[in-house]
Amino acid sequence: MEFAGAIAGPNRQVPGDLVQIAFAGRSNVGKSSLINRLLGRTRTPVARVSATPGKTQEINFYRVNAELTSGRAAPFFLVDLPGYGYARAPDAVRARWGPLVERYIADSEKLRGVVQLVDMRHPPTSLDLQMFEYLGEIEVPVLVVLTKADKLKSGEAARREADLKKSLGLPPEQLIAFSAKTGAGRDTLLDALDGLLAEETS
Ligand code: GTP
Ligand code: MG
Repeated sequence: MEFAGAIAGPNRQVPGDLVQIAFAGRSNVGKSSLINRLLGRTRTPVARVSATPGKTQEINFYRVNAELTSGRAAPFFLVDLPGYGYARAPDAVRARWGPLVERYIADSEKLRGVVQLVDMRHPPTSLDLQMFEYLGEIEVPVLVVLTKADKLKSGEAARREADLKKSLGLPPEQLIAFSAKTGAGRDTLLDALDGLLAEETS
């Protein structure tokens, strides 16, 4: 696994010709932490993590070499998207977010799916729902990952999961509870990513 490059402006090129899986969600939801956990890089993180929301303001590409998911032979990119909905971000940053992320998602022929992260402790925000609908409209395969599962008691977690399944109208295999802290959900998510990567596109 290695850092492959960042896109900071809407006209910048993707740093390589590989299939991609992108991670979206509001600022501070745990995107960078999840990527580090997936890559087994919790002690020496590759994606920057911060308690201050708005840490990731570029589209960052991490090149993953093969063996991360069991069935996958070719390398691919994990794409860390900047978080949305950070109220205290400067206007200029917020104004940049939409075009940058939308252009990337809409134009990337090699994008195999988007993993949308939702904080498990709270109902999805209106921006979460907008993003979810947008992805459905442009027919990008979506997985929803519920983050920070370790912060809930197990009964409560199960209840939140059931509620979200219902409100988003998702089949069970498209919704995964996850904890970057404990690693819960990691294997399930890797299998699901494998499924996205294996899907034929024509
Ligand atoms: P931006 O880059 O600002 O969009 O944020 P992000 O979505 O990349 O979030 P990040 O991974 O930086 O995590 C934000 C905060 O949440 C950090 O303090 C993390 O340690 C914490 N965090 C992330 N995932 C988990 C989790 O699964 N469990 C717990 N307990 N804390 C988490
Ligand atoms: Mg981040």
